[in-house]
Amino acid sequence: MIIAQITDFHVRPRGKLAYGVVDTNAMLEAAVAVLEAMPSRPDVVIGTGDLTDCGLAEEYAVLREILEPLSMPVYLVPGNHDRRAELRRAFASDGYLPEDGDFLHYVVEDQAVRLIGLDTVVPGHGHGRMCDVRLAWLEQRLAEEASRPTLIFMHHPPFRTGLVDMDKINCANGEAMARLLRGHDNIERVVCGHHHRPITTRWAGTIGSVAPSTAHQVTLDLQAGGCPASFVLEPPGLHLHMCRPCDPHGPDRHFPRPLSLPARCRISRSCGRGRAIASGEVAIPQHKRPRFAADGRPAPAPSFHQGGHHGQAEDH
Ligand SMILES: [Fe+2]
Repeated sequence: MIIAQITDFHVRPRGKLAYGVVDTNAMLEAAVAVLEAMPSRPDVVIGTGDLTDCGLAEEYAVLREILEPLSMPVYLVPGNHDRRAELRRAFASDGYLPEDGDFLHYVVEDQAVRLIGLDTVVPGHGHGRMCDVRLAWLEQRLAEEASRPTLIFMHHPPFRTGLVDMDKINCANGEAMARLLRGHDNIERVVCGHHHRPITTRWAGTIGSVAPSTAHQVTLDLQAGGCPASFVLEPPGLHLHMCRPCDPHGPDRHFPRPLSLPARCRISRSCGRGRAIASGEVAIPQHKRPRFAADGRPAPAPSFHQGGHHGQAEDH
């Protein structure tokens, strides 16, 4: 089974650029084309938040149009730039989002890997939270299936990443979530968005990761007290998570045989239950040719600062 993760599309109304700079719609269209062209097409696509830039109904309508060519099921969770009501309205007919309730949590049961989508949004704020209500819901879902391989997907990372300014607006109460997950050995991954940069870490007895945005990335700044987070037009990408049965005593128990994908295996492990998961990153070709300086050297990637308070949803 192959799970493709795309994140932080920041879709805008037709004809508008995110921050007046980034053609996020065209870049998501490029990601969709990459997914459909893969020789081993993913079984499912998950989108980990900041689906739109401002949470506008018009933006969700554009998002539906852009995702339409995907031939596999698509599951979305909201990020801080999204609005639950508009997301729920636009994708209600897909049937996986809860019709009512405060949060857009759900479980996908009909795949080889059980998928749990979490809603970490705190409306009006850039950071997220796994509050007691959300933790209780997750605890109940995990108790239902203690042995099936499970992948959790959410927008805000509940772990620290080293991107100091972004970690200030990650998922609050991550320590409580970690305590919960440590009691379960079937959690294969906790995959996130929000930080607009590929990141992998060991966390809570499992692997935590962040996928790059399909559009703009966050400038790499690991210094405490560094500059406020800014965006940079480094190459976009997406993540693939590949799960397959394996012989726990066989020679490939640590490195599942690479599939014929344009992906580079970065992390993997066997869990001792006859299966293995590897995750890889796929670059998305940019829709415009790279710009070069007059002397032939690559031009430095432009950098621009985030708008608003770390970019929570705003009407503009
Ligand atoms: Fe984002």
